[in-house]
Amino acid sequence: CERQDGRPFRQRLLVVANRLPVSAVRRGEDSWSLEISAGGLVTALLGVKEFETRWIGWAGVNVPDEIGQKALTKALAEKWCIPVFLDEEIVHQYYNGYCNNILWPLFHYLGLPQEDRLATTRSFQSQFAAYKKANQMFADVVNMHYEEGDVVWCHDYHLMYLPECLKNHNNNMKVGWFLHTPFPSSEIHRTLPSRSELLRSVLAADLVGACTRILGIEGTPEGVEDQGRLTRVAAFPIGIDSLRFQNALLVPQVQEHIKELKERFSGRKVMLGVDRLDMIKGIPQKILAFEKFLEENPNWRDKVVLLQIAVPTRTDVPEYQKLTSQVHEIVGRINGRFGSLTAVPIHHLDRSLDFHALCALYAVTDVALVTSLRDGMNLVSYEFVACQEAKKGVLILSEFAGAAQSLGAGAILVNPWNITEVAASIAQALNMSAEEREKRHQHNFHHVTKHTAQEWAEMFVSELNDTVVEAQLRTSK
Ligand code: ADP
Ligand code: G6P
Repeated sequence: CERQDGRPFRQRLLVVANRLPVSAVRRGEDSWSLEISAGGLVTALLGVKEFETRWIGWAGVNVPDEIGQKALTKALAEKWCIPVFLDEEIVHQYYNGYCNNILWPLFHYLGLPQEDRLATTRSFQSQFAAYKKANQMFADVVNMHYEEGDVVWCHDYHLMYLPECLKNHNNNMKVGWFLHTPFPSSEIHRTLPSRSELLRSVLAADLVGACTRILGIEGTPEGVEDQGRLTRVAAFPIGIDSLRFQNALLVPQVQEHIKELKERFSGRKVMLGVDRLDMIKGIPQKILAFEKFLEENPNWRDKVVLLQIAVPTRTDVPEYQKLTSQVHEIVGRINGRFGSLTAVPIHHLDRSLDFHALCALYAVTDVALVTSLRDGMNLVSYEFVACQEAKKGVLILSEFAGAAQSLGAGAILVNPWNITEVAASIAQALNMSAEEREKRHQHNFHHVTKHTAQEWAEMFVSELNDTVVEAQLRTSK
């Protein structure tokens, strides 16, 4: 949050997101350690440097006692974070239930989990009530910390009810809301029992933004008018802090790690997948495509390795637990089929890598596989490109990731459901000429280094400031 160059900050920004940039782990009655949280929302917002930012959110842990809450509040304050304490029941109904079992799959066009369908339908009302209650709890914390002139920037599908709660309390508050996932088409959105209430609440914000086109909200170029109130609606493509990745590659410890990885996989091409272990990421489909590639290209079998690093996520939701076993089962089968006593074709790790280890892996990769079934943007594809100035590896990218719009011309675009096509793209990537790789990389590198997280935030905040001024002018006429 602090500027290094001593210049004053432009504006105070209250970022409100379900997830804080750090998650807390209890070490004792009043002692906590903080670990960096996973996910694109955190990555992008950590790349925003030019605002005086306070981050309001949930620390990912239940803290029922006052001593624990006090100690955690203090530890978080050092990171400019302010906690919202949610009890276990609310987390179960709001986060695991309504957010991750209903909104997340729906917004990614996956529908509800099949076996769960009836149970989810029955629990819908209580989960939606918990969702609204949780959103009001976030609003209460914002109201406590809000100072006149602040910009309040609400994030993601967890907090669609928040703009209305905030505006009900203070109609002069400058409120923006940004969605990091795809916005579903209106045909999908209208299946949601709480569809109108959620959309109305989002439209209480002054500015509504998303990574890509917002199909669910129809409106004019100026925005959407609801009950005599105009809300600006626009797409703001997100980015990363590309310099942070480029600079990391210069760190001696990272250089050393790169050398080790090169030795470890010498004589083999390295393919890489880095994902949260989430059904939208198409991890089983990716691994099956790799199997098909090995099947069809016996000459490549001992010359290529797939490293799949999948950080566990939302582990209390049954659908995610099933996915973990499914991925383990497929990887085991393929390694049994194509492995030898000395080498296996797939290294699968269920864990988070630290930033430097991740950069080293990106740098030694020949082919990155991003095969999301749907994805808001997918910043892993950006991070890979940022670390590839030396190697100029190939990006295989799902046409259903938002990044397909920005990196499509440099990547090989695939339909992740079409395993035959993905297998053929793997062959194409591994056999691609150096000139072709260079050309494709330059296109992507230019985009990733130009359209950064900072630019994204500046565009959003300045649009929000302008929108509020225009609205004031309209009402004073
Ligand atoms: P999402 O937000 O859905 O997780 P993104 O691709 O936009 O997808 O962002 C994922 C972020 O999480 C990236 O910054 C990536 O580096 C990080 N990440 C994902 N998996 C891992 C992992 N296994 N270890 C470390 N970081 C990871
Ligand atoms: C996606 C969502 C974020 C979320 C992240 C990690 O990026 O858009 O809002 O924070 O996944 O998921 P989690 O449930 O652990 O916060």
